[in-house]
Amino acid sequence: MNYGYEFLDSGDGRRLDIFGGVTVDRPAPQAEWKKKLSPSAWQSDLFYDRAKDGKSGWAGEDRIPENWSLRYGGATLLLKPSPQSQIGVFPEQMPNWDWLTETLRAACRPLKILNCFAYTGGATLAASLAHTEKFPVEVCHLDASRSAVGWARRNAEASGLGSNPIRWIVEDVTRFLDREIRRAQRYDGFILDPPAFGRGKGKDTWVLKRDLPGLLERLEKLLSKRPRFVLLSGHAPELGPRDLASTLSFLGNASSFPLALHAKNGNDLPCGSCARWSET
Ligand SMILES: C[S@@+](CC[C@H](N)C(=O)[O-])C[C@H]1O[C@@H](n2cnc3c(N)ncnc32)[C@H](O)[C@@H]1O
Repeated sequence: MNYGYEFLDSGDGRRLDIFGGVTVDRPAPQAEWKKKLSPSAWQSDLFYDRAKDGKSGWAGEDRIPENWSLRYGGATLLLKPSPQSQIGVFPEQMPNWDWLTETLRAACRPLKILNCFAYTGGATLAASLAHTEKFPVEVCHLDASRSAVGWARRNAEASGLGSNPIRWIVEDVTRFLDREIRRAQRYDGFILDPPAFGRGKGKDTWVLKRDLPGLLERLEKLLSKRPRFVLLSGHAPELGPRDLASTLSFLGNASSFPLALHAKNGNDLPCGSCARWSET
C-alpha cells in the first residue's frame, strides 16, 4: 500500500524520513550506529536541531507545501512541524492501522471502540474506515491535549470521515475511564498507545510503568460481553513485547512484536513494542 511515506535512513543519533514528498531530518537518540546514506542524500527539506543552548527548533519550514499531508489507505493526515520535533504522525503505527481496519471489517457486526492517547487520530481514522451503514463502527477519540484533538478532527474532515460516528473527548485518560465505568459504558475494542511519560489536564501526570496496571483494570470493567480486540503499544525500554502481551493475558493469548521503522538499507529504527489481542 502506498502511504506517501518512506523511512530512508538512521544513524549518528538522527533519522531521515520522507512524508508526503518532504524529507525530514530529526533527532533519534536510539540510532547509535552509523548513517548509511551519503551526506548529499541527507540534505533534507526540514531539519530539527536540539541545540545545546536550549534554542531547539526547525529549519526549512518555508519549504513545506501548503496543506502538507500524507495519504494512507482512505485517510489523509495533515502534517505540521511542532515544537517537540513531531510533525503529527507516528509512522511506526501504520501496520497497526491496517490491522485495525481489517480486524474491524472482518467482524461484520456493529462495534464501539475507544482510542485512548489518540493524538492526531491515525488509529481513529483507521477504525472509522471500517464503518458502514450495515455494521456501524462508533469510535471515541480521547486525548488530554485540546490541540491534538482539534488536529484529529481536521484529519477526519480532510479524509471525508467528518460525518462518521466519532466522539471527540479532551480529558485525562484515568478520569474519563472512571466516568465511563460509573455510566456503565461498554466498548468492543481498545486502542492504547500511552507515552512513557505524559501530562493529562491540569496536574495529572501519566507514567507508563506506574499507571498501566490501573489502566488495564479499568479497561477490564469497560469490556463488552463480546470484545473484538485490544491493541497496546508502549515506548518505555523496560517494557518489551512479552511484557506487554502478558499484561493482556486476562483476555487470552496476545501476539506481540517490536515496533520499528524499516529502511531499505537495513538501518531500521526501533520504536517500542506492541501487543495485539483479538477475538478468534
Ligand atoms: C505517543 S502519542 C500517541 C500517538 C498516537 N497513538 C498515534 O499513533 O497517532 C501520546 C498521546 O498521549 C496523550 N496523553 C498523554 N498523557 C495523557 C493522559 N494522562 N490522558 C490522555 N492523553 C494523554 C498526549 O497528549 C499524546 O497525544
